[in-house]
Amino acid sequence: MCGIVGILSHQPVAKRLVEGLKRLEYRGYDSAGIAVINDNQLKRCRAQGKIVNLDDCLAHDHIDGTIGIAHTRWATHGLPTEENAHPHMTETVAIVHNGIIENHTALRDELSAKGIHCTSQTDSEVIAQWLTVFEKESDSYVEAIFKTLAKLEGAYALGIMFRDDPTHLYGTRKGSPLAIGQGSNGEMFLGSDALALAGLAENLTYLEEGDLAVLTKDHIEIFDKNQKQTQRPSQHYAGGFEQVSKGPYRHFMLKEIYEQPDVVRQTLNAYLSEDKKSIVFPELSFDPKTVSKITIVACGTSYYAGLVAKHWLEKVARISVEVDIASEFRYRQPPLSKDGVSLFISQSGETADTMAAHAYAKAEGQQTIGIINVPNSSLARAVNVPLMTYAGPEIGVASTKAFSTQLCVLAALSIYLAHQKGMITDADLEAYCQDLSTLPNLIEKTLSLSDSCKDVAEELAKTRDILYLGRGTSYAIALEGALKLKEISYIHAEGYAAGEMKHGPIALIDETVPIIVIAPHDELFEKLVSNIEEAAARKGQVVFISDEVGQKGYHSQAMARVTVPETSLFTAPFIYTIPVQMLAYYTAVHKGTDVDQPRNLAKSVTVE
Ligand code: F6R
Repeated sequence: MCGIVGILSHQPVAKRLVEGLKRLEYRGYDSAGIAVINDNQLKRCRAQGKIVNLDDCLAHDHIDGTIGIAHTRWATHGLPTEENAHPHMTETVAIVHNGIIENHTALRDELSAKGIHCTSQTDSEVIAQWLTVFEKESDSYVEAIFKTLAKLEGAYALGIMFRDDPTHLYGTRKGSPLAIGQGSNGEMFLGSDALALAGLAENLTYLEEGDLAVLTKDHIEIFDKNQKQTQRPSQHYAGGFEQVSKGPYRHFMLKEIYEQPDVVRQTLNAYLSEDKKSIVFPELSFDPKTVSKITIVACGTSYYAGLVAKHWLEKVARISVEVDIASEFRYRQPPLSKDGVSLFISQSGETADTMAAHAYAKAEGQQTIGIINVPNSSLARAVNVPLMTYAGPEIGVASTKAFSTQLCVLAALSIYLAHQKGMITDADLEAYCQDLSTLPNLIEKTLSLSDSCKDVAEELAKTRDILYLGRGTSYAIALEGALKLKEISYIHAEGYAAGEMKHGPIALIDETVPIIVIAPHDELFEKLVSNIEEAAARKGQVVFISDEVGQKGYHSQAMARVTVPETSLFTAPFIYTIPVQMLAYYTAVHKGTDVDQPRNLAKSVTVE
């Protein structure tokens, strides 16, 4: 959620720290700060709000040095004020922290008993204070850090500097990710994700749980959780600045919507055979022929991708599927059969609840598959079988292209398992593969609906409540459409299974409530139309999304119609996702909200 950057160099670092923070701003944007060591003193600059607010303070205070740490915050404990912004400091120690220290109240009380008082409301400041206590009582800085870590309960990624040790930068992690970057000319970096280090680091080393890294300008020393020296693999990092630019688009979200033909093609290419007739998967850690049940666990948009997959896996592969929200699953602790299969979906690969749910499934003896977008993320390293999506960095807080690529892998997995289990023939498999391979072009065509979506969005922007309805896989797309709209436009929206309307929500309908209908011309179309006609009869303002044949099949009043290209039943979820993304985007633009960084949200939810 929050972002960390650290630099140890022979040149001034402040400007690059702030640039790194700007690349991480999507992870949290309620306050930011940097600290450096300069003239044997710790100097700090912090600002409430967006990172750009730091510029003033930096220009005014002339803060710079050749070692520094920086942070962008998403508040968990304490208001998003300057006082609560990181870095947190004492006279001799500065830290930046991602995660949550669960026992911070007890640690604060212990400090108070020693006459040491914290100045912020955060859970993080106690770390700086305890490091200061132990710095005085230890023979080395490493010892002081391990003594402090022993007191912490919860999750952390930490960047640490000691005023009297300006040639070393320290980084440690447990439960939150942290990477070490090595530059080409005697520079070292710390980053909470690889993007922070784009264009800076040539090689990346990911720390393992409990590791402490001690960095000099040209050397990395790592201690594991047992305080033993260890080595972690390092890999070349090709990320450049261009990866994180908006290009000609007004928002990252719009750019990412338009990237969908390409990223869907790339992801399909990874799983379709060259002749587009079959599916190629890495070796699975279980026998696909014997799978009879799959448990899918995820959060938010990734969870909705799981709901779509339930239909594919149950209908095509005849595998029974349970889909669960990670935060519910982890505490419900459902019984799971040994050697059964659980599947975890996560764009970031760092979502705390999904990670905890995965740990539970693993402990129950399940074989775990991950559908993940960020290479080397915690989940990608933890699952038995990582199946990557190739969406590239997703910066807009509202997930778009990651969702489409998750659907690609889930569709490929469904037909692969169906074929392995003998539920579909070679010819069927080939037909499904051919169908999938038409998607990039179909999505491209669907994107040309942007003008009609813009017009509808102008009307939607005037409303207070919106209903999204669908049946079958379109119910999942209705949920996703409602989530997208509410998170970036702040209009209340709900996704409902159209058949449930009569059981309560129809009471909401009047002439002020738009009803967005996801209506592929499938076997449930007639039933859906009956549900919608009931709503239209009560003056609901219908926005009917269907193909040409479907449009002809709906005869009642519509406030607007959005006509998508014809698709198969199997690929419909991909295509109907595009207009709901665009409706949300343009509604938010009409309302003038901060599309890429909506209020209260952050990308990558690394706390519970
Ligand atoms: C919504 C959105 C979130 C994420 C959710 C899970 O647009 O982006 O609902 O889908 O926080 O995140 P990941 O997929 O990174 O685990």
